[in-house]
Amino acid sequence: MNKCAVVQHILKAYSKEPKREQGTFFAPSNIALCKYWGKRDTELNLPHTSSLSISLGNLGAKTTIALEQALKDRISINGKEVDEDSIFSKNLSHFLDLFRPLNSVFFRVATEVNIPIGAGLASSACGFAAVVGALDQLYGWELPLSLLSILGRLGSGSASRSFWHGFVEWQAGHDADGMDSAGACLESVWPALRIGVLIVDSEQKKLSSRIAMQNTVLTSPFYKIWPEKQARDLKDLKKAIEKQDFMALGETTESNALAMHALMLTTSPPILYSQASTLEAIDKIWHYRQLGLPLYFTQDAGPNLKLLFLEKDEEAIIKIFPKLIVVSPFNIGAFQC
Ligand code: PMV
Repeated sequence: MNKCAVVQHILKAYSKEPKREQGTFFAPSNIALCKYWGKRDTELNLPHTSSLSISLGNLGAKTTIALEQALKDRISINGKEVDEDSIFSKNLSHFLDLFRPLNSVFFRVATEVNIPIGAGLASSACGFAAVVGALDQLYGWELPLSLLSILGRLGSGSASRSFWHGFVEWQAGHDADGMDSAGACLESVWPALRIGVLIVDSEQKKLSSRIAMQNTVLTSPFYKIWPEKQARDLKDLKKAIEKQDFMALGETTESNALAMHALMLTTSPPILYSQASTLEAIDKIWHYRQLGLPLYFTQDAGPNLKLLFLEKDEEAIIKIFPKLIVVSPFNIGAFQC
């Protein structure tokens, strides 16, 4: 099955013509505590395993979409037009092809992103989620979030988790068409939880997660034990969240990220996203933890780290990492997952 067939299936009973002048949607960025790494279907971005994330509150992407008179899409980020020949524009236009009323109709897409550039903060996740949400508004479909999540996944797997605040689980599902592979939020609220973004290098990553995860699935001899580790970590994380057991949350999150990077090291050719500065920061985290500070990290497909800690330790941790960008995932007014 291809993306186009999935979109047609979901939208068959819905309007093919825009109902409004424009549509706008905000999607928060999300950080996986239990990672998504490896696809069972590379066309539909269907994962081998379920994953779990925490959303980054008010940090994310706000996108406005309208029809465009010109004979091409016009895309801007933070007020700056993006070159139509850039990989970014081409990817987005290719994704928008799935939603044009006619092949000859184009879109104006304006995105405001308030996440620190180069921080490795999954901008593709909130980016694709915001585009899908804005299309939903433009066409007046009013789809349930679970279906928007499926549409967002077709752009980028992790986008399926960017439609909610708080903790979000993306169920891997079993169906070939991926209709059972969508995000869903957990009711749990943990106001004291903090995420710190530690930028050790702001350069663009050299190898996309898309290619890296596929190479891992195809060549790491340890990938076959990954699903078992994932299932255990997911269960432990959900228990830790329910009990608000911070140590269990931190330990499992850190171990999950390290296992994902270990898989990458055993890929052929090997993949290494860490740099010397990443390892120095990890060493520092482990040093302070040994001294009794409850501080943990996770790492995605880049050299930067995301720290996990509690509100009560925020001051002490900022003294250790003065440039840390601190996010309060639940400090978003009235919480509704
Ligand atoms: O959705 P993608 O293709 O950007 O992949 C995301 C991969 C990780 O960020 C490393 C893990 C995750 O679950 O977000």
